[in-house]
Amino acid sequence: MVTTMTESPASPVEQPAPLSAVDPVAIRPTVPAPARTVPEEGAAAAGAIEVRGLNVFYGAFQAIHDISLTIRPNAVTAIIGPSGCGKSTFLRTLNRMHELTPTARVEGSIRLDGTDIMAPEVDPVQLRRVVGMVFQRPNPFPTMSIHDNVVAGLRLTGRHSPAELDEVAERSLRRAALWDEVKDKLKANGTSLSGGQQQRLCIARALAVDPEVILMDEPASALDPVATLRIEQLMAELRQSYTIVIVTHNMQQAARVSDETAFFTMGEDRAGYLVETGRTIDIFTNPKNQLRRVRVSTPRWPRSRTTSCEWARLSRTQSGRRSRPSSSTIPALRRPSSSTIAGSTRCSATSRP
Ligand SMILES: Nc1ncnc2c1ncn2[C@@H]1O[C@H](COP(=O)(O)OP(=O)(O)OP(=O)(O)O)[C@@H](O)[C@H]1O
Ligand SMILES: [Mg+2]
Repeated sequence: MVTTMTESPASPVEQPAPLSAVDPVAIRPTVPAPARTVPEEGAAAAGAIEVRGLNVFYGAFQAIHDISLTIRPNAVTAIIGPSGCGKSTFLRTLNRMHELTPTARVEGSIRLDGTDIMAPEVDPVQLRRVVGMVFQRPNPFPTMSIHDNVVAGLRLTGRHSPAELDEVAERSLRRAALWDEVKDKLKANGTSLSGGQQQRLCIARALAVDPEVILMDEPASALDPVATLRIEQLMAELRQSYTIVIVTHNMQQAARVSDETAFFTMGEDRAGYLVETGRTIDIFTNPKNQLRRVRVSTPRWPRSRTTSCEWARLSRTQSGRRSRPSSSTIPALRRPSSSTIAGSTRCSATSRP
């Protein structure tokens, strides 16, 4: 399979899907197409996702409640919200990775460019070529070289000449902004790279099979600020050609990299739901809902060092009700501690006061 299978060892859900032969299923041609260009004004861009009435269950537990969301092509959509509100779960449903969890069950509809991805005729392996994924921890295949990591997914899709594989490897590594750093050591093991380089290698691996959509689940949370900056710059470049959905705990990062933001939280039953979605600039400057008190100083790197875990508090104040809270229940913006580093601040349950 394709996907940039990265994996958080702690989560059984994020185990790489088995590499298996790809059936020639309708959703996508098996030969990688040349790099896409930005579609002309008015043209229908590939990679549009329509989610309607999405409910996700793990056994009897409902993790996501009735989420409807439109994800624009050629844009970066940030999913933000407190820990446990279902961000990763939501992301995994977009390429049916949730099916790797035996107890997971989905209701509702997800359409990619109008195609129902849940339809029985859609091969999930093929789907994951089109909707690639990059996880929190970079996970190059440990026994493979840098070159072979990049073309691993491609090798499964049919016969490709060595020259063709070399060409795709170089093109993907260039697109992932890693080529210059690795071109002289393509036979070195993928795990010999730094964390940030490994993450870009995983992005290159996803790009090699020519996806339309790239899902990123906290792709920079394990990286230092410099590597984080590189990934953010890369996202800005990739959005020219791909639909990008990124889960981040970092409000500053969401403000910096995304065009659209979807703010999730959860109710008393712990089921995550969508609070608000819209253009990032509107969400951060003129939110219609609970985010109204959240402030992000300047959404630009590296000046915007002010960050906020405010939504973690918001979530707490929201627990048990889905109506808008009175503003008095929302504490004032907390100033960052001196140890706060732009790009690496992470809100989590443990960060809650
Ligand atoms: N494999 C699973 N089996 C059962 N429950 C799960 C599984 N994966 C996630 N959950 C539950 O679903 C809910 C949503 O989890 P999810 O990982 O999607 O949250 P999240 O918003 O990504 O959190 P975080 O920000 O901490 O990564 C949580 O209550 C979690 O415990
Ligand atoms: Mg998560």
